[in-house]
Amino acid sequence: MGEEGAKSVRCAHCGDLLEVSFPGWKTSSGMRAGGLDSVGLKQLWLQRRTSSKALDESGVWRFREILPALHDWNNVITLREGNTPLYELPSCGRAAGVEHLYAKHQGMNPTGSFKDTGMTAAASFAKQGGFRWVACASTGNTSASMAAYAARAGMRSLVLIPQGQITWGKLSQALDYGAVTCQLKTDFDGCMRVLDEVVQRMPVYLLNSVNPYRLEGQKTVAVELMERFDWQPPDHIIVPGGNLGNSSAIGKALLEMKQLGLITKLPKLSVIQAEGANALVRTIRETGGKKLISVHAETMATAIKIGSPASWKKAVRVIEATGGAVEQVSEVEMALAKAEIGADGIGCEPASAVTLAGLKKLVKQGFVKKGESVVLVLTGNLLKDPDFTLKFHRGDLFAGTEHEEEAAVVLGPRQRAPMVLDASANAVVKVLEYAEQNDPRK
Ligand code: F0G
Repeated sequence: MGEEGAKSVRCAHCGDLLEVSFPGWKTSSGMRAGGLDSVGLKQLWLQRRTSSKALDESGVWRFREILPALHDWNNVITLREGNTPLYELPSCGRAAGVEHLYAKHQGMNPTGSFKDTGMTAAASFAKQGGFRWVACASTGNTSASMAAYAARAGMRSLVLIPQGQITWGKLSQALDYGAVTCQLKTDFDGCMRVLDEVVQRMPVYLLNSVNPYRLEGQKTVAVELMERFDWQPPDHIIVPGGNLGNSSAIGKALLEMKQLGLITKLPKLSVIQAEGANALVRTIRETGGKKLISVHAETMATAIKIGSPASWKKAVRVIEATGGAVEQVSEVEMALAKAEIGADGIGCEPASAVTLAGLKKLVKQGFVKKGESVVLVLTGNLLKDPDFTLKFHRGDLFAGTEHEEEAAVVLGPRQRAPMVLDASANAVVKVLEYAEQNDPRK
């Protein structure tokens, strides 16, 4: 396959993997990977879906011709990540005003978030490098994923999280998978600063999203998506933005696929942030993407509560290269969108829902047209943050905040608080009759 002997070029300053080259991989048009042309690659990747080899069952390593190569494929640490479902979102599409709306649900990965596709790659390289310890700062999903993959690899993991600012579901995962978990009295950006110092002083391998192998692994979601669309790209891909690793990775994948001749046009890649954690939106609007504007992040979507996104430069580059947009959404808009995604029988965590809320705005602005096809990348599973969902349905989410009145009007009709009843069939039947008479879908 020509996988051995792959070379990578690193940035001298940040250590980022800038370009990965393989024997037979040329950077001009007519580019080949693993010695295969685009037709050969498509066939090979599809064939692997019928294989029961661990490497092929992984939706990441199935595409190994466009990933950096390990010395020994036996070092791959995989939980069979990737190969996630693409769902149609009919009622969300109606709410947003587009005819062809889909969700690529990365929350259906083994640890419940998109992080697994990058983590399988980075953990495998950490193991190959002989590291005993891996570490990350996290808003919860990276740490859950890292802890799982480290455990599978027989490595120890160190997690730094902002105290009281990650969900119980995510925290409990890190503990279950055996991570040494430190809740620091700071925010995510503060955790990153502390971690930077720790890695200077101790032989631990950094697994934050600036890790180049994580970005490489995360590219595969875009490849999977194009394969699912039979290599005819949708018009738009919309992702939530936090530290901006995901958008950078997806953008890199799109550009590489175009170079390889796997696709002939680029979908527009747009990034949506919470209004209270809108560093990228401000950076692009106020400086044209030239200088990072850091913010003090505040949002209930704890996953993207990040004020100084590490990969902002890369994100700016890929948004520009694909002709995408940036947008921000309010907390109420995000909560409504999350309920709408749930009502389509899909569900996701709050951070993922900014994609639908942002899409509505992009449609109103005319950036996304009614007849265009749109894919929302849902990054985290509904069960990651049950507290948010319960508060939403009990009507507590915005209690005592400046949004209380607006929330009651906008979200009220969607709230379904759980009921406490006497243990009698009569009581249940009454509820059922009432629900039937008041079915909003009638
Ligand atoms: N959605 C979810 C569910 C996330 O957990 C994150 C990031 C994002 C979106 C944003 O992705 O950072 O690549 O722009 N979570 C990281 C973490 C920061 O530590 O779990 P991004």
